Amino acid sequence: MKAITVEPRKPGSAKLEEIPEPDVREGSVLVEAIAVGVCGTDVEIVEGKYGWAPPGKTRLVLGHESLGRVVDPGPGGGLKKGDLVVGIVRRPDPVPCPNCAVGEWDMCRNGQYTERGIKEIHGFMSERWRIEPEYAMKVDPTLGILGVLLEPTTVVTKAWEMVKVVGRRSFWEPRNVLVTGAGPIGLLAALVGAQQGLDVHVLDRVTSGPKVDLVKALGATYHSTTVSSLGFEPDIIIECTGVGQVVAESIMGVGAGGIVCLTGVGSGGAKAGAAIADVAAGAVLRNNVIVGSVNANKRHWYKAGEVLARADRTWLAHLITRRERPEAFMQALHRETDDIKVVIQFAEV
Ligand code: BGC
Repeated sequence: MKAITVEPRKPGSAKLEEIPEPDVREGSVLVEAIAVGVCGTDVEIVEGKYGWAPPGKTRLVLGHESLGRVVDPGPGGGLKKGDLVVGIVRRPDPVPCPNCAVGEWDMCRNGQYTERGIKEIHGFMSERWRIEPEYAMKVDPTLGILGVLLEPTTVVTKAWEMVKVVGRRSFWEPRNVLVTGAGPIGLLAALVGAQQGLDVHVLDRVTSGPKVDLVKALGATYHSTTVSSLGFEPDIIIECTGVGQVVAESIMGVGAGGIVCLTGVGSGGAKAGAAIADVAAGAVLRNNVIVGSVNANKRHWYKAGEVLARADRTWLAHLITRRERPEAFMQALHRETDDIKVVIQFAEV
């Protein structure tokens, strides 16, 4: 079968190649791939900056934002042939650490977790893939191709849960949220904010195009300025750019008692313009919490399903700005100005 594979840490090594059918040890459920979303992590892996091949192998099948159709549900489990499913990305570490032991693999403490298409387990960019029934999430069939948005939505539902949990430390009735970055994660974070009835603000660099339209369609306010020149101090900031300057301005610009949730993974970037001790003093004197959030456990996957089910389908459909064939995977990995979510389509829904 055809698969998009890469030799992690080797730039320029990605290719579409023939590989053997998926190993039955990867799970009793056999799935035919429909689509796989492309995200910044995939781009990093292809650029040789991230990623790990399975033990004893040199190449990794890429892809962690899946959508597929069950071909063979295998013995047991609640799946049927034809069901649309999405594969959970992370697997608990084998020790396991206390968090993995209770099913919170997203909070893994020893870093020995594995991730499909990212860290030591093959991903979903192959014509067929296998999965353990307990890691196959059934999606509402009426979502069709939009089911491919489930994985990025789980990242967002986990981030929102972090904000809510921290918020419970005191009396707190947030009125507004600022989302920095209008990529898929930012827009989905804005969607959740709107579903909660908050006054939603989204900030990005672009001044026109689909990102602006999608923000407005949520009833939210779009800003193409900096956090420091917004003119108000947000109660919540969900940071989705990972850009140093934006992160620094978010931490310094959130309101008193406010929470900044960091979801973007960046590196380096502009100097903060403030010494660490000054940033810390600001957080102390204003009771701010800065919380990092990565990955998602089953609870967040369930909640993400609910978010998509409640969302306007036309709005969701506009998040998928491009579909490419597996043969054109390099084009899929290349970001164009108006791209939001690009998917590689293996089969029709
Ligand atoms: C994925 C997460 C993963 C993280 C770090 C993200 O792109 O969506 O599931 O935990 O990368 O590898």
